[in-house]
Amino acid sequence: MTDKTANQMWGGRFAAGPDAIMEAINASIGFDKRLAGQDIAGSRAHAAMLAAQGIVSDSDAEAIREGLLTVLSEIEGGSFVFSTALEDIHMNVESRLKEIIGEPAGRLHTARSRNDQVATDFRLWVRDQFDAAEGGLLALIRALLTQAEAGADWVMPGFTHLQTAQPVTWGHHMMAYVEMFGRDLSRVRDARKRMNESPLGAAALAGTSFPIDRHMTAAALGFDAPCANSLDAVSDRDFALEFLSVASISAMHLSRFAEELVIWSSAQFRFVALSDRFSTGSSIMPQKKNPDAAELIRAKVGRIFGANVALMMVMKGLPLTYSKDMQEDKEQVFDAADNWMLALAAMTGMVADMTARRDNLAAAAGSGFSTATDLADWLVRVLNLPFREAHHVTGSLVALAEKKGCDLPDLSLAEMQGVHAGITQDVFAVLGVENSVNSRMSYGGTAPEQVRAQIDRWKARLA
Ligand code: ARG
Repeated sequence: MTDKTANQMWGGRFAAGPDAIMEAINASIGFDKRLAGQDIAGSRAHAAMLAAQGIVSDSDAEAIREGLLTVLSEIEGGSFVFSTALEDIHMNVESRLKEIIGEPAGRLHTARSRNDQVATDFRLWVRDQFDAAEGGLLALIRALLTQAEAGADWVMPGFTHLQTAQPVTWGHHMMAYVEMFGRDLSRVRDARKRMNESPLGAAALAGTSFPIDRHMTAAALGFDAPCANSLDAVSDRDFALEFLSVASISAMHLSRFAEELVIWSSAQFRFVALSDRFSTGSSIMPQKKNPDAAELIRAKVGRIFGANVALMMVMKGLPLTYSKDMQEDKEQVFDAADNWMLALAAMTGMVADMTARRDNLAAAAGSGFSTATDLADWLVRVLNLPFREAHHVTGSLVALAEKKGCDLPDLSLAEMQGVHAGITQDVFAVLGVENSVNSRMSYGGTAPEQVRAQIDRWKARLA
């Protein structure tokens, strides 16, 4: 005799239902309802396969497949009543299917377990997110390419240690981010390819004695193949971890760019103007225009990387195969995915809308003795000094200019010759920032010609 409150899915050997606290800690329906579409797609594929293999009748499979569509439309329409007592999305869907179609619903779970079911649903969900991330990254890369193309030859300071280093071009700086997000894109594609195997049919852990066709369900769900080991199929969460690590690296890139936008949009830098659409005001200081979107993007890496660490910790001590610990995988991935997509979209909007202040960039490019390296290179090239000596001579000239409160091109020829007698009037040609960037023609260098070549390469790659 079973208590009528015992679980209808597995209550056969239970005399009583769960304590309220047990139900609270056990239930995942509060969050895994997001897997409804994937769960129903997986079940429809499974039912079709069971019929094709003669494991259930065609009419039962048809009733199941039709009934599942009704359940899906109830969920999408918002009329579906989710039950915590039914634990998770899998049992909520199956229970409702039984109410709709009756007895055949009980045949759906033949040759299947919630272990391979949840692994399948979650893979399908994560796969969709990889695809969404690909779209988000491509949109961002396109926005960066537009910025790079407009300002391929606009000069700005390049920094190391956030100290003025050498002049670079705006296009070159934008293209640095194209490379970074391009690597994220390739990580997304790489991980998506590796994860695209179907756990369905691994059943609880050992496979099944029913003559199922795992290749059929794998193909129906768009997987490249079934997972080759049933134990691994139900216990593996690498696909979720790879998603989180790819997301973490990408969020780190977004954060670095966001940090630059915060700095660049400040009154002290004034390198860029962010649009009203992607800024906020202050309730007390009327002059303020705050880069809140950039700041929030900068912060997102915290929760995304946190999710990555959290799931690593969940998984690291688990013996094969499935343990309920693994139910903790979903909230981390859901939250990380939502916030990564939002950060990508917000960054794309900011980049598309922002205006580079060309004059301010140019003025800053020439300050801070940014062409000192060009001067040292000239001493090597023209006067044949060893680089170390040229470095020393240039350092003395910088010190002299600093003492006089001027920039290098403002020193007179006589003052220069006071430091090194061999210097001639020709040196002034290399002290201009335009000349400096134009001269950096090495492959991948900042010369506008090189930058344009990289823009063209990317455009061809994306076409
Ligand atoms: N809600 C569960 C999860 O998310 C589904 C799998 C349950 N499997 C089990 N053997 N209790 O992991």
